[in-house]
Amino acid sequence: MARVLITRHLPAGGTDPLIEAGHEIIDRDDDAPFTPEQLKAAVSDVDAVVCLLTDKIDAEVIAAGAAPAGRLKVVANVAVGYDNVDLAAAQAAQVAVCNTPGVLDETTADIAFLLILAATRRASEAEIDLRAQRWPGWGINQYLGHDIHGATLGLVGYGRIAQAVARRAAGFSMTVRHHTRSNTNLDGWCADLDEMISECDVVSIHVPLTEQTRGLFDAKRIARMSRSAVLVNTSRGPVVDEDALVDALEAGELFGAGLDVYADESAVNPRLFNAPHTVLLPHIGSASHATRQQMARVACAGVVAVLAGEQPDNLVVD
Ligand code: DGY
Repeated sequence: MARVLITRHLPAGGTDPLIEAGHEIIDRDDDAPFTPEQLKAAVSDVDAVVCLLTDKIDAEVIAAGAAPAGRLKVVANVAVGYDNVDLAAAQAAQVAVCNTPGVLDETTADIAFLLILAATRRASEAEIDLRAQRWPGWGINQYLGHDIHGATLGLVGYGRIAQAVARRAAGFSMTVRHHTRSNTNLDGWCADLDEMISECDVVSIHVPLTEQTRGLFDAKRIARMSRSAVLVNTSRGPVVDEDALVDALEAGELFGAGLDVYADESAVNPRLFNAPHTVLLPHIGSASHATRQQMARVACAGVVAVLAGEQPDNLVVD
């Protein structure tokens, strides 16, 4: 029986694989993220950690958990993204890392499409006005947005989530293009990101956060987009330079934006709150009951497999 730390509260049933395997679960009453010091102390006497994207599993945390200081064998991040985990440190310390691929694609694509529609049709600001009793009644020139049906969508990255967005776009008769660094040999592939985004009505970002993608949408790139276009981001906040985005929106150089992720999710850039034609969601891309439970189960099943000496499919680093 191994000791498995669960850093925050998981959905009901999420830890079933650990329970079925007979492992001891170390959980907490408090659902607030650990401080770095608390996290280091908590990992020092466990075999595995099931963590969330709010936990920074950096080299110090790995060192505090892994041999010779401790006996940590595996970190399972309950997310498909794992930019909060220092993979190099984990690999060097022979700590396996797992994530939750495959189970959140459709749910996240739903939210990306919601943002595409809501930002392009100005749904948030219209609803905010209505709720604030500022709507004077119907007017022919109110809240005019752009049509999504028949528009051109550019997907940045073409993994499972982007492809799920593409399937939704087909139902709206959109022309769908995608950019990846290597040729997908699929219809709609564009080698040049700047060229693609300059020809799109909507650009939706689906790349992981890496040193190459940090700041990918900076002022120069945003300026390539059409004035009537909308930028949607459901991947990771730091891929977009938020100040550059707000500058473009305020200047009318970009029509709108739909964001589910932020550069600093504990203190969202306040300029975004007043940016025109902007829909802001609090990182709920995968937030359905079924998907969140499944994510927790996949992460916990990865822990069970690694502790049993197996190589689960969701292994990022072994
Ligand atoms: C992920 O899985 O990486 C999302 O951001 C949270 O579901």
